[in-house]
Amino acid sequence: MNVDLQIKNKESISESIKIDSKKFYIESYGCQMNFADSEVVASIVSNEGYDSTNNLNDADLILLNTCSIRDKAEQTVRKRLQGFNKLKRNNKNLKVGVLGCMAERLKNKFLEEEKIVDLVVGPDAYKDLPNLIKEVNEGRNAVNVILSKDETYGDVNPVRLSSNGVTAFVSITRGCDNMCSFCVVPFTRGRERSRDPKSIIKEIEILVNKNYKEVTLLGQNVDSYLWYGGGLKKDFKKISGLRQKTSINFSKLLKLVAETFPHLRIRFSTSNPQDMSSDVILTMSKYKNICNHIHLPVQSGSDDVLKAMNRQHTRAEYLTLIKEIKEIIPDCSISQDIITGFPNETENDHKLTLDLMDKVKYDFGYMFKYSERPGTFAAKKFKDNVSELVKKNRLQEIVDLQQEHSNFRTNNYIGKSVEVLIEKESKKSNMQWSGRNEQNTVVVFNKEDYKIGDFVNVLIKKCTSATLIGEAINPTNK
Ligand code: 5AD
Ligand code: SF4
Repeated sequence: MNVDLQIKNKESISESIKIDSKKFYIESYGCQMNFADSEVVASIVSNEGYDSTNNLNDADLILLNTCSIRDKAEQTVRKRLQGFNKLKRNNKNLKVGVLGCMAERLKNKFLEEEKIVDLVVGPDAYKDLPNLIKEVNEGRNAVNVILSKDETYGDVNPVRLSSNGVTAFVSITRGCDNMCSFCVVPFTRGRERSRDPKSIIKEIEILVNKNYKEVTLLGQNVDSYLWYGGGLKKDFKKISGLRQKTSINFSKLLKLVAETFPHLRIRFSTSNPQDMSSDVILTMSKYKNICNHIHLPVQSGSDDVLKAMNRQHTRAEYLTLIKEIKEIIPDCSISQDIITGFPNETENDHKLTLDLMDKVKYDFGYMFKYSERPGTFAAKKFKDNVSELVKKNRLQEIVDLQQEHSNFRTNNYIGKSVEVLIEKESKKSNMQWSGRNEQNTVVVFNKEDYKIGDFVNVLIKKCTSATLIGEAINPTNK
């Protein structure tokens, strides 16, 4: 911790900070939301006098921001924790904390199951970190997994961790009320609540002033964003008619952000089919700076499976929504999440998923084998009865088909010019930049005199299923 020294010159002050300050190391797993939360945590922990470090060996406090969405994600974290045993033997003062969804799901059990853990903090309890850290530094274990009705961290300005200085995530909602039967998120992140639009605008303004060029508005279910003065989404119906009328929904928020920051690229994720309104699609089409990409998880192409999953839409409704999106925004890219091997999924259900994919031809997607999560409706009511081998084979077929469709989509860009925001050096060559077009496809091209943060028009010459390769033609004036 910094000590209050009366030192006159700057060098000595920074020297004293170096010697005295404690260091924290944070590692994030899972969804973008967790990565955004880690930036909130970094801000809170920094205010306690901790500096961030990328070197585990320097850390006094190691924090893992964990994910519970599938069993594999949890196993990865448990393995990682085992790796810290040696560090703890070498540094008796080292404390290890577990944050996020696994912390919420396992609560006190975590301390029993993983002896290395000192600190367990759920996603709504990060503001209590200063007290909890004090507890562990005094030699006691500390746990806070209380879920909140209104915590959105709207008043915390996140510390951008390992940022490219160009793109950033901004959380707009927390929690989820959808209760898809397979999903642990409603249990680990609590009920849905939205963040005050003023604090969203303020956070974006800070980013824009630092020259950030793109933000992604984040939530488990962004389309159900609803600000009516704070509180749970489910309580909206109880408030007065006037407050209902003056409320701000997601399309209004998008419009507000797009108009306030006309030179900023705006993305959002994740959309749920049943909550996506025509207003949102029309707003996207109206504002050039809202990117034409929608991540629209479908999970399955079979109505029977969708019903058992408690998804609030049918296959036909989903396809109608896709049609509406493509009619209003013909060049809108669409990506998916699909789960294969949900309980009782038949070969015919699987074929229906493949058939739906053929109809949509997604630009890209994230595909998973069903993983039973303790406490969920599906775990309680259905047997995880699709064998591992069948899950594996079905997943492979889905992945192969997506590869075909991704290829089809990227090939369509050949000969066309796309606007790219440069984010970083290409992984394959230090002579090339890497960025994304507005449809969220990666584009690489020769560096020339361009720099990170530039918007550049790129003529696409070649492609793989995931990457467009082209030549810069001229910078766009942004
Ligand atoms: N098993 C497999 N995949 C899951 N997802 C959520 N829960 C599970 C589960 N129990 C997937 C869904 C969701 C994405 C974030 O993770 O496809 O959209
Ligand atoms: Fe989970 Fe469904 Fe909510 Fe997504 S919408 S977080 S899958 S419950």
